[in-house]
Amino acid sequence: MYRIGLGHDTHRLTVGTAIVIGGIWIEHNRSAVGHSDADVLLHAITDAILGAAALGDIGELFPDNDLANKGRDSSELLREASEQVKRAGWHIVNLDCVVFAERPKILPHREKIREKIAEILGVNIELVWLKGKTGEGVGPVGQEQAISAECIAMIER
Ligand code: CDP
Ligand code: ZN
Repeated sequence: MYRIGLGHDTHRLTVGTAIVIGGIWIEHNRSAVGHSDADVLLHAITDAILGAAALGDIGELFPDNDLANKGRDSSELLREASEQVKRAGWHIVNLDCVVFAERPKILPHREKIREKIAEILGVNIELVWLKGKTGEGVGPVGQEQAISAECIAMIER
């Protein structure tokens, strides 16, 4: 039995020194704003696997008004979500993700990010794919006011 899930996330950008994408910190002159570490990619992946398994969503499991989640490492949230998905009898078939960012370029960091996501989920790196897309200079992404990410995940019982 197969299921698919879709995850989407957006964070506002502000002046900063680094940004975390897929659990990897990248030196950058903009930072993402959020209650946790604002890792837009890990949040999209968390929602994709939870959605596939019909187990809720990230804000439901880890409320942003809960002080325990303030500044929290999103790797922990994804790890916890993936453990719930596994406990419900599912395993991940594959993930495919898009990061919508004018900058930084994702490509030079892609392998490190894939490796990190695979490690968090306890799956082979071959099951995790990722790419970046600019906003072509227009809209909140293109104007570097926001960063977004999407993930589609397939799971199998
Ligand atoms: O050429 P096209 O309009 O399809 O895409 P783009 O947004 O201009 O991005 C061109 C290429 O740059 C992408 O296919 C990615 O390989 C890379 N890219 C990236 O690595 N990181 C980003 N944040 C944006 C784009
Ligand atoms: Zn988020």
